[in-house]
Amino acid sequence: MKSHSSSTLLEVRNLKVSFQGIETVTVLSGISFSIRESETLALVGETGCGKSVVAHAIMHLLPPESKVKGDIELRGKNLLGLNEKEMAKIRGKEIAIIFQNPSLALNPVYSIGHQLAEPLRVHRKEKKKSALSRVAIALKHMGFENFSECIDYYPSWCSGGMNQRFLIAASTILDPSLLIADEPSKGLDRKCVDELEAELKKLKLERKTALLLISHDLGFVQRLADRIAVMYAGEIVEFANPSSVFEKPLHPYTRGLLNSLPEKGFIPIPGISSPLSDLSSGCRFHPRCPLREKRCIEAHPELKEIDGRTVRCFLYP
Ligand SMILES: Nc1ncnc2c1ncn2[C@@H]1O[C@H](COP(=O)(O)OP(=O)(O)OP(=O)(O)O)[C@@H](O)[C@H]1O
Ligand code: SF4
Ligand SMILES: [Mg+2]
Repeated sequence: MKSHSSSTLLEVRNLKVSFQGIETVTVLSGISFSIRESETLALVGETGCGKSVVAHAIMHLLPPESKVKGDIELRGKNLLGLNEKEMAKIRGKEIAIIFQNPSLALNPVYSIGHQLAEPLRVHRKEKKKSALSRVAIALKHMGFENFSECIDYYPSWCSGGMNQRFLIAASTILDPSLLIADEPSKGLDRKCVDELEAELKKLKLERKTALLLISHDLGFVQRLADRIAVMYAGEIVEFANPSSVFEKPLHPYTRGLLNSLPEKGFIPIPGISSPLSDLSSGCRFHPRCPLREKRCIEAHPELKEIDGRTVRCFLYP
């Protein structure tokens, strides 16, 4: 059992996000969750269900055509009420993000040392030489034996795994309380995934960093998460600890996700998620649910507590 402090670091309440285009599309319809200090919360769910939108809403990185409602509080301070200047002080320093596409996150034109030193120079006004020596120490902590040489490397000289670890070093150089990692293991080979996992565990143990882990890789999630939130079509459908989710999933969608794992026989969930612009009434999963009943088509289930877990399904009284 992993230990963590019980104090709440991030509280997201009834988060609603819509995008204004030719028509308004609601992509998050009232998401609520909290993350405690040094806790790892994983967000899982199929492509397009809204995981990255949650991450970008927390960081104030959604495009101007988005409309955000609800509360996002960091240690009781409402982030949605902050202007860009105030939020810039929080980004990187209190909450950092590793974006979904690491090749776009590192700038090919600048050396690794330059890119990692940047947050220290901007937020802490450190001089170039002292910032670079702190970067070298950070890279040493990340397990790079040739840490002094790495400072002069360029992203194109390095493997995907190395660049991913540079990104973690860059995101955590200011010791944020919360790291958001959006698909950090995507595209990495087995060895790199193992290294990444070790780095994320080290951050939690040694620096007490809380982690919002977004991933399609359920094995990776199972090994790292303290709690898992399963998302479907812009809402959370199940919330539980990893052993409950993996040993006794409650929601039919969670069961479907687990059955699609190779070790469970690769059985895909039939059908595809309806476009968020075209959701029918009732339970959002009903068009694909093998346990669908008449009431599932007529009414929308709310999240309910059951034995210390939370699930959105009429099967549970
Ligand atoms: N700028 C935008 N304008 C309009 N719709 C958007 C915008 N950004 C995201 N969306 C829509 O919001 C929904 C959720 O997208 P999001 O990127 O959060 O999905 P995801 O769960 O992260 O998927 P993946 O697993 O593929 O990364 C999708 O339907 C997407 O098309
Ligand atoms: S509410 Fe009905 S359709 Fe939705 S997941 Fe539960 S059983 Fe399936
Ligand atoms: Mg995404």
